[in-house]
Amino acid sequence: MRTQIVAGNWKMNKTQDETEDLLSELSAKLPDSHADVIVAPTFVNLGSAKNALQSSTIKVAAQNMHFAENGAYTGEISADMLLNLGIDIVILGHSERRSLFGEDDSLLAKKVNTAIEKGMTTIFCFGEELDERKSGNHFSVVESQLKNALFDLDEKAWNQIVLAYEPVWAIGTGETASPEQAQEMHAFIRKTIAEAYNTSIANGVSILYGGSVKPGNAAEIFSKPDVDGGLIGGASLKADDFVAIIKAI
Ligand code: G3P
Repeated sequence: MRTQIVAGNWKMNKTQDETEDLLSELSAKLPDSHADVIVAPTFVNLGSAKNALQSSTIKVAAQNMHFAENGAYTGEISADMLLNLGIDIVILGHSERRSLFGEDDSLLAKKVNTAIEKGMTTIFCFGEELDERKSGNHFSVVESQLKNALFDLDEKAWNQIVLAYEPVWAIGTGETASPEQAQEMHAFIRKTIAEAYNTSIANGVSILYGGSVKPGNAAEIFSKPDVDGGLIGGASLKADDFVAIIKAI
């Protein structure tokens, strides 16, 4: 049975006070769930988030990380800095990192390798642009994103990988991939991993869907056999919405 996960990517939102308020409300309203629940506040609030959740089952992830041990990388955050805060989960490859900050597959491969070496879990994001889907290239785009960043990993490293398929055209747009579109791509991803590695790894990796998941559509998306949960943006910033999505898995 694969791990089911509902993760909230808060992006550049919430001050420290707002973070503490949201986490206090979320902790109070958190339903019993078989799924792992993860929140990813912004860097400056990771420490207070860990403190706020020290007696909670909710896990805390970072939204990004540099690959270097340390050094002259102004504004960046290293794995050890995150681990020192007790953060051992990191989101990498989000489409906003790719499009707004020029992160390409080779840079992401370095970041993933560092996370693996440090014993961290990576939630690795990927997905096609609208024009790539319209032109029927979405499968080849996703396949190359996976191959270029992940397919040099050894088999054991896949125990530290969670995949998040996020069609870029569905992120923040209210335009969600249909449950059938999500299932089709997730099944393709699993087949691609099985061909590159084996069915045990392919069937063991959790594949999350991200892109305008809301309380009203979560249950149907999560009901698909190859969807193992969601990476939630906007709806994770309101406790009631995020709780409703957790209840849907
Ligand atoms: O990482 C999750 C995010 O990109 C999805 O955003 O607002 O469409 O749920 P949203």
